[in-house]
Amino acid sequence: MSHALANMDTAAGQRAALRTDALAGLSAPRKTLPCKWLYDAEGARLFEAITRQPEYYPTRTEIGILREQAPSIAAAVDPGATVVEFGPGDGEKAVLLLSRLRTPAAYVPVEIAPEWLDAVAARVSEGVPGVPVLPVVADFTRSFALPPAIPRSRRLGFFPGSTIGNFEPTEAADLLRRFRGALHPGARLLLGADLVKDPAVLEAAYDDAAGVTAAFNLNLLHRLNRELGADFDVSAFRHRAVWNAEEERVEMHLVATRAQRARLGNREIRFQAGETIHTESSHKYRPERLEALAGAAGWGALEMWTDPGRLFSVWLLEAR
Ligand code: AVJ
Repeated sequence: MSHALANMDTAAGQRAALRTDALAGLSAPRKTLPCKWLYDAEGARLFEAITRQPEYYPTRTEIGILREQAPSIAAAVDPGATVVEFGPGDGEKAVLLLSRLRTPAAYVPVEIAPEWLDAVAARVSEGVPGVPVLPVVADFTRSFALPPAIPRSRRLGFFPGSTIGNFEPTEAADLLRRFRGALHPGARLLLGADLVKDPAVLEAAYDDAAGVTAAFNLNLLHRLNRELGADFDVSAFRHRAVWNAEEERVEMHLVATRAQRARLGNREIRFQAGETIHTESSHKYRPERLEALAGAAGWGALEMWTDPGRLFSVWLLEAR
């Protein structure tokens, strides 16, 4: 593990990184905050609630594809695979996949937050007893290697949830290239990617009627207040989700409803009325574009599975 990674493991290190990112992002001419900071304990709870909203189709659609297509997926993956999941979430999809594959050899969740790893390891051990769980603490968005104890043959990377969509396309290709390097040639990757569709469906998915996504987005300002002692008037911001047709992505913004200032550390951040903080992009893919992106990163497509409404795609890629 690198020095930077060890530093990230401490709460103080996390806070310092949050402060650096917030000061940089909020000082830019077009204000931004990196979406990874949406996921503190409260943000993770709210995201979980988002996945249960009727408008938010991705989670249930992907799980439906994994269930429906489990026989084809299992047939396409060799027995004895070591499943390496990048950012395992709560472990639900891992349990589903591992319970359907033919005699998986091991499950390797790769995650930066050790406390999440413990929870996912417990859930998977309970859900699929008999499959050894070998957790790895690493930041897969940077250069990383799997420890020597992880079996080398028949590695199957698993990257569901359309998390790939949170990366700019060039960063997404870098990420896929890094996965390929860590998994070694001959490996495969099961990848979930959300598809381009009717903008009204997309915008509703990111602005549910119950206001859960709005709360998830606004929690980022509460977090700056809580952790950095900032004084944002959260009631003077509102959530906006918009389809950017040019970039083929849904953007989440926090809109200042009036001109205002906020204190962050020793800096004053000024907002004009209507000015926004861009907090997340969720890129959507057309199948040919995803295939080209994967190809540029050294992966060839073996299969693509989708749902009857063609909302979401699950890909089996092979390192070339
Ligand atoms: C967890 C990144 C897949 O982009 O759909 C959900 C996050 N943001 N609603 C997504 C999210 C707002 C989600 N991912």
